[in-house]
Amino acid sequence: MQSLHYPVMNSEIITVFADTDQTLFIDCTVGLGGHSYYMLRHFVNSSLIAIDIDGSSIKKAKTKLAAFSERVRFYRCNFLDIFEKIDFSGLKVSGILVDPGISMDQLKNPERGFSHQLDSRLDMRKDRSLKVSAGEVINNFSEAELARIFREYGEVGNPEKLAKKIIERRLFAPVESTRQLREIVEQLDGRRLKKGRVHPAARVFQALRIFVNKELEGVDQFLEKLPDYLNRGARIVYLTYHSIEDRIVKRGFKSLRDKGKITILKPFPMFPSPEEILQNQASRSAKLRAAEVL
Ligand SMILES: C[S@@+](CC[C@H](N)C(=O)[O-])C[C@H]1O[C@@H](n2cnc3c(N)ncnc32)[C@H](O)[C@@H]1O
Repeated sequence: MQSLHYPVMNSEIITVFADTDQTLFIDCTVGLGGHSYYMLRHFVNSSLIAIDIDGSSIKKAKTKLAAFSERVRFYRCNFLDIFEKIDFSGLKVSGILVDPGISMDQLKNPERGFSHQLDSRLDMRKDRSLKVSAGEVINNFSEAELARIFREYGEVGNPEKLAKKIIERRLFAPVESTRQLREIVEQLDGRRLKKGRVHPAARVFQALRIFVNKELEGVDQFLEKLPDYLNRGARIVYLTYHSIEDRIVKRGFKSLRDKGKITILKPFPMFPSPEEILQNQASRSAKLRAAEVL
């Protein structure tokens, strides 16, 4: 049975793409195929290029999009590399969607080690051919390196203290599981363990995930090149789930606007409606930015 899946801010995204020539869309992060499904259903004459770095996401998306298989082409790659991986000559791209981070499926899979709420091996690699897992970072990186990762990618309060605690703990035995890491955070940050509040381990896990998957490396350059590969009037839709990535996208859009390459669409940035958040808690941190290529 397929689990219920709510693509984040789907109706807003469909509205943005409706005002294009609806020829070809690129879904850079197809995940479970939620957004792609609605794009193919709404824009009946369009084709779609579906990308994901994770082979298991591609597999699931292929099943979800089976009814549209003749209109979809799949690529397993990092979307930040699409200009090298895909031949854009002759492609008339109407819109491109980026919805990064991880899917619920990845988060809830106990084998992947993304969630502090499950007990599993510390892994967190989306692309399983990557050499360094979260466990390797936690057990081998220096105190200073760990503190930098927690600070830069998680905006963790007191990252030095957490890094020190991890180093002390691993003198006795390696920190191998998500549960062990969560417990170290809880020992330090027990006061913040209040019902209804985001667990303090969430930021630590986010920082490790971003670092392990090099999520922010190359986003600037990707945005800078993007308009040169899209049609005039094409639309760019970018969802972010944390302030660090959103700052990069905001800066990238502003720089393209100042060079006269895009217009930033209003009323964006937008957040999910209270109704959507009620239906899908995971959408609560989302922010959507959109632009049109000039
Ligand atoms: C939030 S989910 C996308 C959900 C999707 N929009 C849907 O409606 O089902 C994020 C997906 O993006 C993929 N992903 C994250 N970063 C990526 C990257 N740099 N390149 C390609 N895929 C990436 C993840 O593997 C995951 O499957």
